[in-house]
Amino acid sequence: MRSQVVIVGAGPAGLLLGQLLGRAGIDTLILERRSAAYVKERIRAGVLEQGTVDVLEHAGVAQRLHADGLIHDGVEIGFQGARHRIALKELTGKGVTVYGQTEVTRDLMDARASAGAPVVYEAEDVTLSDIGGSPRVTFRHGGKTHEVDCDFIAGCDGYHGVSRKSVPPDAITAFERQYDFGWLGVLADFAPLWDELIYATSERGFALASMRSETRVRCYIQCPLEDSVDDWSEAEFWAEFGERIGGDIAARIPQVPALEMSIAPLRSFVAEPLRFGKLFLAGDAAHIVPPTGAKGLNLAVSDVFYLYEGLRDFYRSRSDLALVEYSARCLKRIWRAERFSWWMTRQLHAFPGEGFDERMQRTEIEYLLESQAAQKAFAENYVGLPL
Ligand code: FAD
Ligand code: DHB
Repeated sequence: MRSQVVIVGAGPAGLLLGQLLGRAGIDTLILERRSAAYVKERIRAGVLEQGTVDVLEHAGVAQRLHADGLIHDGVEIGFQGARHRIALKELTGKGVTVYGQTEVTRDLMDARASAGAPVVYEAEDVTLSDIGGSPRVTFRHGGKTHEVDCDFIAGCDGYHGVSRKSVPPDAITAFERQYDFGWLGVLADFAPLWDELIYATSERGFALASMRSETRVRCYIQCPLEDSVDDWSEAEFWAEFGERIGGDIAARIPQVPALEMSIAPLRSFVAEPLRFGKLFLAGDAAHIVPPTGAKGLNLAVSDVFYLYEGLRDFYRSRSDLALVEYSARCLKRIWRAERFSWWMTRQLHAFPGEGFDERMQRTEIEYLLESQAAQKAFAENYVGLPL
């Protein structure tokens, strides 16, 4: 078998890269460890920057997004029992679009199926070789071993994938920060009791009120890292969420069963560089942000867009300039998103027992809520720095 580009991973990064390259006449094979149903059902991010929407439009997969996505011109910060709006649009000229990662994935899967481009789901033991020379990828599927020769490999296989681990350890540097709490998330069908997202900080911990549509909410609370979903009943979740969000929301939450309940750990992680010979890492394979700034999916999209430009130029004019610059171009944007996500995580979560830090946290939020300049800086980052 042969393909110009082998893409490892059919998450949003891999599927989007395949779609962009396919439209530029470049053939790709996507290898995915999980089943199509599993990939489609995973509940993850929910907020798209305008730059992400623009790339999805460029990829020809934004019709449903434009029809169903909710445009939000502001976001709220819950602090000391009150809610304060940050007017994103007024401050930056841009808003954000609320449209779930599940829907983005579905649109991309549908587009790939319509294009007749191949994805091998349930590909086992994906192995990368000769990444510095003539790259080759082997995998097991349907009880057989397959081998694919290619020009390039795109490692879009997430934090736990095989691509980053295929790089010699002395060629890669990892920077990491772990947090000793996670996010417990619930998806449920009721009309949001809030018009815009609320990021709330309280002594009991962080809570986020989000949504997926006019009839579906997605809410999160900070929880101990050791907790498992079984430690929480739905009633306990909503009671705690209500305490942290405050106002009159708690009393109005309807008793409807959750569609999904899961815990995600929080981590900041960057691997440098993003290129090793013919292997390019993109998305969560190269970096993780804690979810507090809603940057994970958006960052995967900007990496992929830069990689698409590099590969397109290479095949169109044999220019490798953009491929040479790929890693540095991505890393500049990655570190800025890491900074903002780390900052939001630091300011909005409870870190028990840190007296001085607790006062700093309080002061940071007070300053944000009182200073137009601070709000502008916040808004500029939240809506997304330019691609
Ligand atoms: P992924 O979506 O992880 O896709 C990688 C794909 O590669 C997967 O389909 C995986 O099965 C496949 N794969 C892995 N290993 C192999 C292998 N060896 N061979 C073949 N295929 C392989 N971001 C936010 O902004 N907000 C959120 O609320 C939020 N919640 C999240 C919750 C969880 C539990 C996680 C894990 C992430 C969350 N994120 C969130 C981050 C966001 O979802 C990611 O940044 C985004 O999914 C990155 O896309 P990706 O395609 O790079 O990686
Ligand atoms: C959602 C997740 C986030 O991490 C975030 O910052 C905003 C919204 C969500 O899942 O809706």
